[in-house]
Amino acid sequence: MTTDLPNTGLQNTDQRDADTEPLLSVRDLRVSFGPGRDAVNGLTLRAGRGEVVAIVGESGCGKTLSALALTGLLPSGAKATGSARIGGTELIGASERQLRRLRGSKVSMIFQDASTALNPLMSVGAQIEEVLAIHGGPSRKRRRERAIELLTSVGVPDPAVRARSLPYQLSGGLRQRVMVAMALAGAPDLVIADEPTTALDVTVQAQVLALLREVTRSSVVLFITHDMGVVAEVADRVVVMYAGAVVESGAVEDVLARPHHPYTAALLASVPDPDRPATGELPTIPGRVPPLGERGTGCPFRDRCPRPTERCAQMPPLVPITEGGSDVACWHPGHAGPVSDNTGTNGAISDEVTTP
Ligand SMILES: Nc1ncnc2c1ncn2[C@@H]1O[C@H](COP(=O)(O)OP(=O)(O)OP(=O)(O)O)[C@@H](O)[C@H]1O
Ligand code: SF4
Ligand SMILES: [Mg+2]
Repeated sequence: MTTDLPNTGLQNTDQRDADTEPLLSVRDLRVSFGPGRDAVNGLTLRAGRGEVVAIVGESGCGKTLSALALTGLLPSGAKATGSARIGGTELIGASERQLRRLRGSKVSMIFQDASTALNPLMSVGAQIEEVLAIHGGPSRKRRRERAIELLTSVGVPDPAVRARSLPYQLSGGLRQRVMVAMALAGAPDLVIADEPTTALDVTVQAQVLALLREVTRSSVVLFITHDMGVVAEVADRVVVMYAGAVVESGAVEDVLARPHHPYTAALLASVPDPDRPATGELPTIPGRVPPLGERGTGCPFRDRCPRPTERCAQMPPLVPITEGGSDVACWHPGHAGPVSDNTGTNGAISDEVTTP
């Protein structure tokens, strides 16, 4: 039996792994392309029904591969290890036959670009009906009615008429709503949305974000984005990934108000702030995410970090920063500038991590 824990959150220690399993439980998920080529390096998270968890990070941090590992759709050459359980069912290592059955009914995915994810030669209504049929849906007549109900639920106007449209006859915003309807057709426990609004204009983005929150109350939603700006709008919890590793995770209000990892702080600083005087340029993070094969053994952020020390040549563990607060992987978490190794802190940083 699956028990949903209220706001169980993202946990990294055995002690905090409660006996009761939440709807989604991912433990030490790794995706590797071979020795020294780990694209995802130990993703751990837990979420209950109705929770939206944002995975955020720059390009190449392993967000999409994490999602593909959960759906069993990894590219050839990539191997997933670890555990990801949804409603008590293990996804990692499941056979292709099992995965086909699970996709749509337990797990579904909304992609960034609906125009490539939809079949251009089939009406959108028929595509939704097809999903219903795959999951042992009801009679043909009932499937047609259900497709129209789903289009109605995602706010498509004139749903009976639009159901007969081909994808190209719909606007980008409507196509993305159709994708949401298709993802919900099998009533999945886990909906993964990979940059679902990036291709849309700002107004339509806001509508689709609000819609996702509204229609997924009975599922867990993993919302993948590179934009910290949308995290506050859509998510309850956030996982910040850098170079394949989780560097910070916690409740959105905690992480956004008090980022402890320098990478989280830098991502937040690059979000346009309407209250900040416009200087013409957004701050960006100097440097780049190290590609696979160039990540070494220490903290992967040290080439870009404002306060690295010798200790950072070792990989920092992901540990709770305070009781019930965020988890952070940094030897010198805090909000301030450079520190020196002999003091451990320059006075501005008060919550230095000790080796467990
Ligand atoms: N098929 C592949 N073969 C080899 N390396 C790959 C493959 N797919 C992805 N990678 C590498 O794995 C890393 C993580 O890729 P992933 O697509 O998960 O990043 P992402 O965080 O989703 O980035 P983006 O924001 O650009 O979508 C990157 O370094 C990428 O180059
Ligand atoms: S202080 Fe060290 S451990 Fe923390 S992000 Fe910078 S380089 Fe990494
Ligand atoms: Mg991606």
